[in-house]
Amino acid sequence: MALPCGGGRTWSRVKKMALFLFFLAPMSSVGIGIRDTNTVFSKKPKPEVWKQLKRLNKPALKTIESPDGDIIDCVDIYNQPAFDHPLLKNHTIKMTPSSYPEGFSFDESNDVSSNSKPEITQPWHLNGSCPEGTIPIRRTKEKDLLRAYYGKKKLSTIQDVIDTSIHEISEEGDRYYGLNAEINVWNPAVMAQEEFSLAQFWVAGFDDIDTLIDTIEAGIMVYHDNYHDYETHIFIFWTSDGYGSTGCYNLECPGFVQVDNRIAVGASVTPYSVYGGEQRSFNFLIFKDDFGGGDWWLYLGHKYLLGYWPASLFSIMAGSATYVSWGGEVANEQIGGQHTTTQMGSGHFAEEGTARASYFQNLEVIDAQLVRRGPRNIVTSVTKPNCYNLVNHEDSFYFGGPGRSPQCP
Ligand SMILES: *[C@@H]1O[C@H](CO)[C@@H](O)[C@H](O)[C@H]1NC(C)=O
Ligand SMILES: *[C@@H]1O[C@H](CO)[C@@H](O)[C@H](O)[C@H]1NC(C)=O
Repeated sequence: MALPCGGGRTWSRVKKMALFLFFLAPMSSVGIGIRDTNTVFSKKPKPEVWKQLKRLNKPALKTIESPDGDIIDCVDIYNQPAFDHPLLKNHTIKMTPSSYPEGFSFDESNDVSSNSKPEITQPWHLNGSCPEGTIPIRRTKEKDLLRAYYGKKKLSTIQDVIDTSIHEISEEGDRYYGLNAEINVWNPAVMAQEEFSLAQFWVAGFDDIDTLIDTIEAGIMVYHDNYHDYETHIFIFWTSDGYGSTGCYNLECPGFVQVDNRIAVGASVTPYSVYGGEQRSFNFLIFKDDFGGGDWWLYLGHKYLLGYWPASLFSIMAGSATYVSWGGEVANEQIGGQHTTTQMGSGHFAEEGTARASYFQNLEVIDAQLVRRGPRNIVTSVTKPNCYNLVNHEDSFYFGGPGRSPQCP
């Protein structure tokens, strides 16, 4: 792959993560896949597609039609996809963690008491809510699966046509039991259906010989191929074999156990930040529940204890993570021609600062002493400084850019 050199071991890891993330994830349906889909698949779906849809789409106790076209199924919490995982057959669901990180503040009230703790709103909330004892699941449609199948077949070809650009800061060298990030929410313009633009964190476990094994990731992304629109979607992701055969986005495969009935992962999150105006952001806190068996919990927006990845899914991260990072990423499919006009962040360079450039703030890790602290000895990676950039502060950074321009041809 012709990717710019970033320098050092960390960069190559990140690059590897990014690339694998892109083409091995279930939706990994990159450009060529999409364009040919109609000729490859006739209207009649294959039996295995129906079978998979049936497995993925659990019977709903209630169904909510969202104004953005999503169908949200309220599925019995005990019947969620996680329990299809062979390791989780006898799993007893936990409704809360047994232990919390230091300084954890839990705000279960529904009133938005201060601007620093915004509620996460999704379009489907306008049309109903999921009852207690159920979780909201964004319904998988047939076209999602067709694309996933095709994507897998074409993996070897796809590798040659991807160019992703990562702009992030990372830390390694400690043992990590958690991470915090408040991510500014924008709706970057994305040029093509098969391109994406995202802002996310990575918590990863590398083995003794520096091979990436486990990751837990979450953030927000615009990705038409997966979500069929250009809105900004909240997502979660995991793998336990370096993006090989395990893991997926959201609840598309068994693994993540959701307990919250208000947030649908994979659904969009409106409204967005306004250039020079009101800013929206969500806090993501992930922490290991060491007294509760070591599961990794995800706590959103100081309000939503979303659920957890059971420790048994992982090997390295059954103990602790070895690498953390935060940043933005864009996939550029305009290979051989001009650079894509797909934006990162707000579409404006980091120097523009407050209310104009996109930010990450309240960056923290939970370290080997189980202390919450800011990042230390960080490595900054900026692969396309003329297209997107990053300005780092103590526990926050601005990042992003417009993509193609005279400086980024
Ligand atoms: C689940 O429980 C059954 C019955 O006790 C047992 O036979 C099976 O091995 C268990 N499976 C796992 C994955 O622990
Ligand atoms: C959802 O609710 C809004 C506001 O009540 C309404 O205008 C809209 O028609 C509803 N949409 C669907 C698909 O039910």
